[in-house]
Amino acid sequence: MVRKACNLIYKEVVIMGSKEWRTLNPSGSNRVIVTKELPGERWLNILTAADCQIEICTSPEVISSGEIIAAIGDRCDGAIGQLTEPWDDKLFAALKAAGGTAYSNYAVGFNNVDVDAATRHGIPVGNTPGVLTETTAQMAVALTFAAARRVGEAERFLRKGRYKGWLPSLFMGNLLWRKTVGVVGAGRIGAAYAKMMVEGHKMNLIYFDPYQNEALEDYVAAYNTFLESRGHTPVSCKRSETIEELLQAADCVSIHTILDDSTHHLINAERLALMKADAIIVNTSRGPVIDEAALVAHCQKHPDFKAALDVFENEPEMKPGLVELDNVVIVPHIASATSWTRQGMATLAASNVAAILQGYPVWQRPDISVFLEGEAPKAAPSIINAEALGIPKYQV
Ligand code: DGY
Repeated sequence: MVRKACNLIYKEVVIMGSKEWRTLNPSGSNRVIVTKELPGERWLNILTAADCQIEICTSPEVISSGEIIAAIGDRCDGAIGQLTEPWDDKLFAALKAAGGTAYSNYAVGFNNVDVDAATRHGIPVGNTPGVLTETTAQMAVALTFAAARRVGEAERFLRKGRYKGWLPSLFMGNLLWRKTVGVVGAGRIGAAYAKMMVEGHKMNLIYFDPYQNEALEDYVAAYNTFLESRGHTPVSCKRSETIEELLQAADCVSIHTILDDSTHHLINAERLALMKADAIIVNTSRGPVIDEAALVAHCQKHPDFKAALDVFENEPEMKPGLVELDNVVIVPHIASATSWTRQGMATLAASNVAAILQGYPVWQRPDISVFLEGEAPKAAPSIINAEALGIPKYQV
């Protein structure tokens, strides 16, 4: 371990393995490691107020399991990790052995976390729901229209100096107004995307989800009352029995499922073949929900078909052929990347860890905005395995 001098008294910089870590509040009695720099200040104040010494890995590179175990060392009370790290039995065993009692993912998704393993080791696992909803849905909308209106392709054309003047048929795209939007996974983000597409573009909605989203259906019904009051044609809203039905009906499909065994390669070659020749598929959930090699083959074969991807099967890599495709829009997993959301995620992750270290119960309401400013409730905002671990519920 090499120590470097630093100009701020409350910080010191330490090299562990090949990565640099900085420490804040070194006199705190709970040691919490954070495997990436997080935006904002509130999260630091929350951990400091919970008497935590905070050690943050300053490297932007993905940190390996070995490096995380080294950072956990022989005394670590809690950790905040990233979706790029496999928080599996080995890591939770190391955290447990070091006296750790709290973990939070800096993400709403937790497919990188072996929650059963954490539960076996008695470690609560937090996540950050509620602050990504509109931000991620907006990006899905942006990607939908970038694909529909060929924004990436047209911009590349322009930048290459190939624009020689207005033409009647230059970069014609798809008009989605009054067409059908398919939403796979109508949870918070899927429902927010559905509303944006229904309200903004008067699209008919078809959704596929194991659970009926009554709130969404009621919302569309109320929107139809408004449309009819203005003399406009109402939109339709249908929960599809099968994903196949949705894929056949929709002009654009946006994926908002979690990733687990049941959704891995949910969109495969056979299902892509059911889609309209000029349909659009958008993915802001997790890459492996789509068989990416099959998608490349489908887009190569059907130039009018379009895909817009924020996530990839083996991030940061992409399947051969994907980057060359003009009918594919790609962005590097940034759907939740607004300052408000990323700071909110940091606040929720820190609140999860701080609350567990202080023995607080778990918040029970979907509205987590009370944690984002002012005095927060004495509760952990979101603990996935709270019930399995018998963590009490916050009583209002
Ligand atoms: C999440 O929180 O799961 C997102 O993928 C991060 O953007």
